[in-house]
Amino acid sequence: MALFVLLCLLGHVWNLQVSAAPVNNAFKHPQSAPKFWHISDLHLDPTYHITEDHTKVCFSSKGVPALDPGVFGDFLCDSPYQLILSAFSYMKQADLQPEFIIWTGDSPPHVPKEELSTDVVIDVIANMTHTIRQFFPQLPVYPALGNHDYWPQDQLPTSANAIYDAVAKLWSPWLNPEAVATLQKGGFYSLVIKPGLRLVSLNTNLYYSPNQVTVNMTDPAGQFQWLQETLELSRQKLEKVYVIAHVPIGYLPYAINTTAVRESYNERLVKIFRNYSDVVQGQFYGHTHRDSIMVLLDQQGKPVNSIFVTPAVTPIKSLLEPYSNNPGVRAYLYHPENYGLLDIWQFYLNLTEANLEQKSDWKLEYIMTEAFDIDDIQPHNLHELALRFEQPQSKDFDNVESISNAGFSSVHIFKNVILHYFYCNLFFIYLCFYLKFWKKILYIL
Ligand SMILES: *[C@@H]1O[C@H](CO)[C@@H](O)[C@H](O)[C@H]1NC(C)=O
Ligand SMILES: *[C@@H]1O[C@H](CO)[C@@H](O)[C@H](O)[C@H]1NC(C)=O
Ligand SMILES: *[C@@H]1O[C@H](CO)[C@@H](O)[C@H](O)[C@H]1NC(C)=O
Ligand SMILES: *[C@@H]1O[C@H](CO)[C@@H](O)[C@H](O)[C@H]1NC(C)=O
Ligand SMILES: *[C@@H]1O[C@H](CO)[C@@H](O)[C@H](O)[C@H]1NC(C)=O
Ligand SMILES: [Zn+2]
Ligand SMILES: [Zn+2]
Repeated sequence: MALFVLLCLLGHVWNLQVSAAPVNNAFKHPQSAPKFWHISDLHLDPTYHITEDHTKVCFSSKGVPALDPGVFGDFLCDSPYQLILSAFSYMKQADLQPEFIIWTGDSPPHVPKEELSTDVVIDVIANMTHTIRQFFPQLPVYPALGNHDYWPQDQLPTSANAIYDAVAKLWSPWLNPEAVATLQKGGFYSLVIKPGLRLVSLNTNLYYSPNQVTVNMTDPAGQFQWLQETLELSRQKLEKVYVIAHVPIGYLPYAINTTAVRESYNERLVKIFRNYSDVVQGQFYGHTHRDSIMVLLDQQGKPVNSIFVTPAVTPIKSLLEPYSNNPGVRAYLYHPENYGLLDIWQFYLNLTEANLEQKSDWKLEYIMTEAFDIDDIQPHNLHELALRFEQPQSKDFDNVESISNAGFSSVHIFKNVILHYFYCNLFFIYLCFYLKFWKKILYIL
């Protein structure tokens, strides 16, 4: 059934593309464009189990009673192992013939510091690494460290330590010796993954506001200098670059005017990415657990980079948050020659339904180009799309009810879609929009 729906949608996309602008003329069959998976925020909770006492279902609910616990999880808990297995089984069975997987961090659960230790954090990362390798033994996987991939959480250091050591060993089968060496020293690396395509995995946890280790440092672990040199060298070699990291640049989807990383670091990253926007073909992040897109503008206001934040596999939310996401994984389609990004296929699991039926039926949630009628996900097309959101009366968005909410410039709710955008223009830097599609669960508490 899932496959049938997928094929129907693909047929539709194919028609759209053929009649569309000549941007992707190279593709008579866009669905055959090369693909890669993006997974993030697995947050395994090994304590998850079904029991009468709902306060005891998972440590990650921190004593709050689970809402409706089932075999695939609960919206107040991190992922049971079953949920993670169901995601990987689906990815394997969907057989999109991906070229590689990017994995943007956060394996351990959201639990108090006392429940974890350096050894437990390493065990959980090792478990996730081995589980991924069991499912995809032939596929290269490019990980980035998350703020939870350390103990105590968020305090990632600027030099070698037991955890960087451990992940350097665990991930070495997917990397080369040079990448393993910088990973072991500073938690970041880069390597060429296709002819003319370099992947840069940044440790943006060093810039994350709660990280006390790096307070007042101008260049933690020398990563800015390394990044700039890496991109400069890529430009000289005419390489294209995909940047992956856990904590995104830009603003948080659920807080006003608040950057995820410290503002000075954010500005520095923006400067670098503006400077090398001809080299960087895409930026891929996790951490917020929210499906978001940002468009980086240059000083003249021209869109120069597409930035994507993927939804999490864990469904967890806190009791106070009004909504959460169903578990999600996604695939990106890219141009095989210039590595320009063409599309996103977003998949999700209806957790409520999976628990009811004791069966996981992952489905296609949306195809970006089709859901928004754009040619591809290049910066200028995403920028135009964002500008379309500014006119909620336009024909694209029927049944829009605009409400102002918590100081955000606007939140639109229409049909089953919540669309939430605002200019993140503290320094006239970016345009952000956060998409809450119809497969997201909305809890009104
Ligand atoms: C990972 O952890 C789960 C649950 O805690 C366990 O059942 C499984 O065997 C572990 N898998 C690996 C590969 O370590
Ligand atoms: C950081 O710099 C501020 C201002 O110079 C200073 O007050 C503070 O003590 C410094 N903090 C650390 C951890 O060095
Ligand atoms: C921008 O690029 C130029 C030329 O490649 C380089 O000299 C300069 O240091 C770069 N600046 C930043 C902030 O990356
Ligand atoms: C956010 O920052 C912008 C630019 O500095 C400012 O105009 C706006 O009032 C701020 N919004 C809130 C809610 O603080
Ligand atoms: C998930 O499934 C439940 C039970 O079948 C249904 O009520 C709900 O509308 C579905 N949610 C989404 C987002 O599709
Ligand atoms: Zn996370
Ligand atoms: Zn995180």
